[in-house]
Amino acid sequence: MTANTSSISSLSNYNRDKELQEFDNTKLGVKGLVDSGIIQIPRIFHHPPDTLFHLSNTDSSSEQDQTIPVIDLLSKQAEIVQSIRDASAKFGFFQVINRGISVCLLDRLLDRIKAFHELPPEQKIPHYRRDTTTCSSGGVGFYSNFDLFQSDAASWRDTLEIRLEQFDPKALPEVCREEVIEWDKEVKQLAKRLMRLLSEGLGLSRNRLLQMSCIERRLMVGQYYPHCPEPNKTVGITAHTDLETLTILLQDQCGGLQVNCHGKWIDVKPVHGALVISIGDTLQIISNDEYKSGEHRVYANPFLNPRVSTAIFSSPGNPDNRNGPLPELVSSERPSLYQQHKFSELVIKFLSKELERKSITSYFRS
Ligand code: OGA
Ligand code: NI
Repeated sequence: MTANTSSISSLSNYNRDKELQEFDNTKLGVKGLVDSGIIQIPRIFHHPPDTLFHLSNTDSSSEQDQTIPVIDLLSKQAEIVQSIRDASAKFGFFQVINRGISVCLLDRLLDRIKAFHELPPEQKIPHYRRDTTTCSSGGVGFYSNFDLFQSDAASWRDTLEIRLEQFDPKALPEVCREEVIEWDKEVKQLAKRLMRLLSEGLGLSRNRLLQMSCIERRLMVGQYYPHCPEPNKTVGITAHTDLETLTILLQDQCGGLQVNCHGKWIDVKPVHGALVISIGDTLQIISNDEYKSGEHRVYANPFLNPRVSTAIFSSPGNPDNRNGPLPELVSSERPSLYQQHKFSELVIKFLSKELERKSITSYFRS
């Protein structure tokens, strides 16, 4: 930890706001810093020792006694329901294979997201914006660290964000347009199938969760984690839980994603052609804690090749609908663990804090 002492002592005597603004003004993200040839990362990216983790201080995969299950969607229905239920209760994470989406599409999609992030500056800069909700954005934006100005330390990644239910196809960068549109169609189907399986896993009728229209909005991110010259000083993404109902994530073969299980960090090992599924805070609440929203993180990429991943977060269609544990899952033995609230209230809480540690569920516990 000696490497961090100097960075921490310098935290107080530099103009952090100014450096954040200067970095944001480049509109080129961390990829721009790497391209400029830096060998030391700017102070705004230094994480304090207590939240710092990196490849060499995490258990290597061979020492881990637990693994995130890989579930074959061609197995018998009852087996699938049971495996998904167990994984969602224990880790809040699982991987699925054989879900009927062409592996070729998955490979093309990652390749095209990488291509977007590697566009020449003049083609990428016009997409740089932090707010993708405005009409002028067309629902599309590129930025580095959505919580850049709220967090104590920035992380080593850039993001392409697309609001899938409202985007203007013309606003989508041409380099990945076709693949994003195709991927969205496939994910919509897969999310429905998974919600049916998750519903059955809770002992409910198979359409019960879908009837709540809790996956109608879809936000897509295309994450790019360039090589980090000082990976022991920063992280790729800080430990967090996803706010939404369900996340469907595709990662490349680089590795770096880890899930917290009772204080132990477990690698989500890349499996070619598999998708990583995770339970979000909203589904944890709806299930009255039968399912867990898994805390996860990504270490700063120490490798020369960039790491690319893409996730679609599904959330309720009407953010003003009341949200809370399903009445069927509440009884005198198992009282409701959460207050009723609107999904939009979760979003406001989420955006007001940095993406770290404190799960949104903790704010709505009864
Ligand atoms: C996220 C996330 C993990 C990854 O975008 O919320 O956790 O592997 N991404 O990029
Ligand atoms: Ni996440």
